[in-house]
Amino acid sequence: MSALINVAINDHHYGAIQALTSCHLTIYPKDMIAIVGPNGGGKSTLMKLLAGLFDPTQGSVRRQNLRPQDIAYLAQRTEIDRTFPLKVEDVIAMGLWPKTGGCYRLGPQEREELLDILDKVGLKGFAKRSISQLSGGQLQRLFFGRVMAQDAKLILLDEPFTGIDQPTVNDLISLVHQWHAQGRTIIAVLHDISLVRKMFPLAALVARSLIAYGQTEHVLTPENLTMAAFNV
Ligand SMILES: Nc1ncnc2c1ncn2[C@@H]1O[C@H](COP(=O)(O)OP(=O)(O)OP(=O)(O)O)[C@@H](O)[C@H]1O
Ligand SMILES: [Mg+2]
Repeated sequence: MSALINVAINDHHYGAIQALTSCHLTIYPKDMIAIVGPNGGGKSTLMKLLAGLFDPTQGSVRRQNLRPQDIAYLAQRTEIDRTFPLKVEDVIAMGLWPKTGGCYRLGPQEREELLDILDKVGLKGFAKRSISQLSGGQLQRLFFGRVMAQDAKLILLDEPFTGIDQPTVNDLISLVHQWHAQGRTIIAVLHDISLVRKMFPLAALVARSLIAYGQTEHVLTPENLTMAAFNV
């Protein structure tokens, strides 16, 4: 099978701060990969490099046959400004933009799709609400709705379940399973190791560099996890 992304990052710096050194791996279509590692280890940096938000200082991230709209990226929630004056329906409309030709005005069919997506993520009746009035869990449901609207081949989720209650996590997990069953590629940063073991066949352990990559059971060994904890 041909690769979806060839990652050959030698180094990524923010000014004087080195976030990531050697990180080489190949991602294939339909892979389901968890990115695991300590705080400050470079996981979010790797996700942004995969999403194409910027290029590595040294090295390359080669996306094969992936247009920007084929990649849905959900940022870590600490990076999301929820005071921005947006309504729930605006956020879903942003996800639909490839279908609306880049304009946020929706036709009747897209409007129906928007309401259907809100229903699927458990936000029926919330379309006109301001995002500043949503709880943390409702906001995450909304961002999953935006990912769904985008209909992307590659879905990047940075700590999607952190700080979310168990019933909501269960709902969001079943959406991720559906996306994967539809043939999409899923990459998620997670701190819950037992969830990773249950749900993700592949794992990347990242602590300044790629400590290990491959089948989850071979990556998340006590030795590797100890090495990662001391590598930041
Ligand atoms: N925009 C930025 N400017 C400067 N330094 C940054 C920036 N973003 C990240 N860093 C630094 O790069 C390193 C890696 O950060 P990153 O956010 O990728 O880690 P992380 O593994 O996602 O951590 P966490 O688990 O806390 O989310 C850290 O030392 C961080 O302080
Ligand atoms: Mg992070």
